[in-house]
Amino acid sequence: ACPAGAPPEAQGSDEAQGPELFTWEFATDPYPAYAWLREHAPVHRTRLPSGVEAWLVTRYVDAKQALADQRLSKNPAHHGEPAHAKSKTGIPGERSANLMTHLLNIDPPDHTRLRRLVSKAFTPRRIAEFAPRVQELTDRLIDQFAEKGEADLIHDFAFPLPIYAICDLLGVPREDQDDFRDWAGMMIRHGGGPRGGVARSVKKMRGYLAELIHRKRLEPGDDLISGLIRASDHGEHLTENEAAAMAFILLFAGFETTVNLIGNGTYALLTHPEQRERLQGSLRDGDTGLLETGLEELLRFDGPVELATWRFATEPLTIGGEDIAAGDPVLVVLAAADRDPERFDRPDTLDLSRRDNQHLGYGHGIHYCLGAPLARLEGQAALATLLRRLPDLRLAVEPGDLRWRGGLIMRGLRTLPVEFTPAQQSKD
Ligand code: HEM
Repeated sequence: ACPAGAPPEAQGSDEAQGPELFTWEFATDPYPAYAWLREHAPVHRTRLPSGVEAWLVTRYVDAKQALADQRLSKNPAHHGEPAHAKSKTGIPGERSANLMTHLLNIDPPDHTRLRRLVSKAFTPRRIAEFAPRVQELTDRLIDQFAEKGEADLIHDFAFPLPIYAICDLLGVPREDQDDFRDWAGMMIRHGGGPRGGVARSVKKMRGYLAELIHRKRLEPGDDLISGLIRASDHGEHLTENEAAAMAFILLFAGFETTVNLIGNGTYALLTHPEQRERLQGSLRDGDTGLLETGLEELLRFDGPVELATWRFATEPLTIGGEDIAAGDPVLVVLAAADRDPERFDRPDTLDLSRRDNQHLGYGHGIHYCLGAPLARLEGQAALATLLRRLPDLRLAVEPGDLRWRGGLIMRGLRTLPVEFTPAQQSKD
């Protein structure tokens, strides 16, 4: 259901007040509302569906500055209203104090220390070496529906790819990965509501990871969890709790984001045939330049992270001329900033060859996405392989019939039904 739970006919907008936010219509297409806010109320105080009052920052220049502003803390303890933190960890269904200290919940100097340690294990080289495995996973998933001539690209492709990829990277044995797939499915379907199923799934995942970390400590391998345990900086190591919280945030931060990158990206290509044909043509010619700039453009145009994760003012400050009080939550609207005409030429046009595309889709500053190289690897493999193996891929429903999830932080489709001429399985 949409966050407001109301059907489309019940929605309205009052020109003087501006558009209604967090409705069904807004979840489907938030961009007109964001355009209005950027123009008339660029730093806008609003009541969120949870009842919490927060500031939305919508202009590119303010957004970029806010993301780098150390007076905005990630630690929920700075929030003036204790009622806020439904889940203090920021992870749906997860309340364990042990997992609170993850990268997206902490400030320097703790953040600096943990980020330095994880960066020693989560290296560009590890990701580059992972490329053949991502390609194999991509092909294996497409094999499972290629001969059918139809698929739901969210359920059959965008959802399993990142979860198997992260499991592999962390070192979760193949025979246990379907359990992870089911637990993650529960998290994404219920979007973090307090329902028993989500809490149970998260508890199982947490228990499993704790045990895995313990096992890897005794018998290290060349996987990421072993790397996290091994990582040291000036004699400092991650504690077992910190390693567990880190494994969990990698899973959590790298999962739904990538599902939505593949889902939103494919959807944008299917609804912009001219751009899609350009991309298909360049891939046929063996040129990956347009794929690289194109993936960045898809992130700018309709990225997976609509709002950056929570920030809280530690002292009174001003953003875009608005006075923010100490304790106030500030939400940076990446999706609005990345369509700002003050920063991007023809911001509502999808242009896969766009240059000068410093979008905020991966954030900015010290919390800039740690997993960006992995997301790029998965996104490029997914889109290129789909277009190569299913060249006449098309939507099986009208765009207006698609349903968006409508969570607060993420933007993504519930389903993406497609059709295509049945294709062969891959040879290897
Ligand atoms: C942080 C976006 C994939 C791990 C972030 C942030 C954004 C983001 C916007 C900053 C949040 C903030 O400042 O509030 C994305 C997008 C992805 C993606 C759009 C996919 C297309 C991944 C993957 C992983 C990952 C695959 C890891 C496996 C992280 C981590 C952080 C982070 C650990 C926290 C970094 C820190 O606080 O220092 N991501 N992400 N992300 N991301 Fe990603």
